[in-house]
Amino acid sequence: MSSYTRRKTPGNTDWFVHDRFGMFIHWGLYSMSARAAWVKKDERMTTEQYSKYFKYFNPDMYDAKEWARRAKEAGMKYAVMTTRHHEGFSMFDTQYSDYKCTNTPAGRDLIREYVDAFRAEGLKIGFYYSLLDWYHQDYTLDKYHPQFNIADGDAFNEGRDMHRYAEFMRNQVRELLTNYGKIDILWLDFSIPPAANDRPCWQAKGAEEWEAEELIKLARSLQPDMIINNRADLEQDIWSPEQYQPMEWVRHQETGELVTWEACQTLAGTYSWCYRRDEGAWKSPEMLIQMLINTVSCGGNLLMNVGPTSRGYLDDHANVALDVYAKWMKYNGRSIYGCTKAEPEFVAPRGCRLTQSEDGKRLYVHMMEYPYKFLEIPGFEGKVDYAQFLHDGSELRIREVEIGHFSEGLTKREKKLVILLPLAKPDMIVPVIELFLK
Ligand code: GLC
Repeated sequence: MSSYTRRKTPGNTDWFVHDRFGMFIHWGLYSMSARAAWVKKDERMTTEQYSKYFKYFNPDMYDAKEWARRAKEAGMKYAVMTTRHHEGFSMFDTQYSDYKCTNTPAGRDLIREYVDAFRAEGLKIGFYYSLLDWYHQDYTLDKYHPQFNIADGDAFNEGRDMHRYAEFMRNQVRELLTNYGKIDILWLDFSIPPAANDRPCWQAKGAEEWEAEELIKLARSLQPDMIINNRADLEQDIWSPEQYQPMEWVRHQETGELVTWEACQTLAGTYSWCYRRDEGAWKSPEMLIQMLINTVSCGGNLLMNVGPTSRGYLDDHANVALDVYAKWMKYNGRSIYGCTKAEPEFVAPRGCRLTQSEDGKRLYVHMMEYPYKFLEIPGFEGKVDYAQFLHDGSELRIREVEIGHFSEGLTKREKKLVILLPLAKPDMIVPVIELFLK
């Protein structure tokens, strides 16, 4: 058994740390800008200027079943989709706002289709829900608001009431957690700490302003097992480093305990979460695979984002990247699912990353660099029963040898475990050796 214990949390994270890999989906009116989910803020648009998107939003090619099929093929086991992003537009049929997809040319509940399709493929269902809202008439200014810089901030805030806004959120969250069956993850986003350069009309927003305790109590009462992230400024189940890859298991800030964590990442350059037509910095296939391996080798999950077009399909870039995962995961998923950081007694050889099955019986050596025909693994002597390539189950012979370097008398002869490899690297972006331990 793995010797690592994670800090206890209120939700059920057992399936989550087993499944390891999920799909993030950022889709909303902002997808039409093909620039950024933050376009309203970036370009300081007024709600009036932004209304063009609402008027013309028509995802006529949306096929949630196709997305779900692609996610599943890529080896993803759960998904988290934007039900409402910072722009404040609901992608579901809410009774608490008219600013919703059913009132656009889309004319349908887009979240309903997502839930039905992904659930049918056996994926777990997550809802991203923004705590920020750049549309709601009760939401006050803060430094992330599109109108943050207007001269008369006080006039803007006049009559706005964050209590009413918090109640609105509870109402929507109640709908989301009541009308769509079992929900596995509630992904709240995010809190705004005070800063020295805040103007008086800007309001920092955290647990108090969101009335997070009440919000979360409500969510837990409706979906007791559900996982909730920590972004409402109240510790719950998951830590969520964003566009940042931890290089070690994330620890609790105060107690130092290991925590349940999930890195969220984009397929392309940092910053844009939604479809970005002019994107140039796509991550290479190697990087995509390595990010997943690195994450699991540090005991974490990876939530990889796609940004569908405003017409509702995944573009070629997204599909190519998902195919990269599909090809690799089909053959190597066993080193990811149900795996975690290897026990401390096992130290990865140079250029490799290790994962180990939860029951401790299998160890996986991911060769990020392919060596010559020997892979030396010091410290593994006497521990390995059988070795094979994971992708094709082909035996890899092991030797425990003493290696000398033709300078006898000078060198100490070291006993090492050596795995004999084929000279040519197999056709896998990162080949994996599966070691069955004694
Ligand atoms: C940030 C951004 C938001 C994005 C989220 C994903 O908090 O504000 O646009 O959805 O990260 O992690």
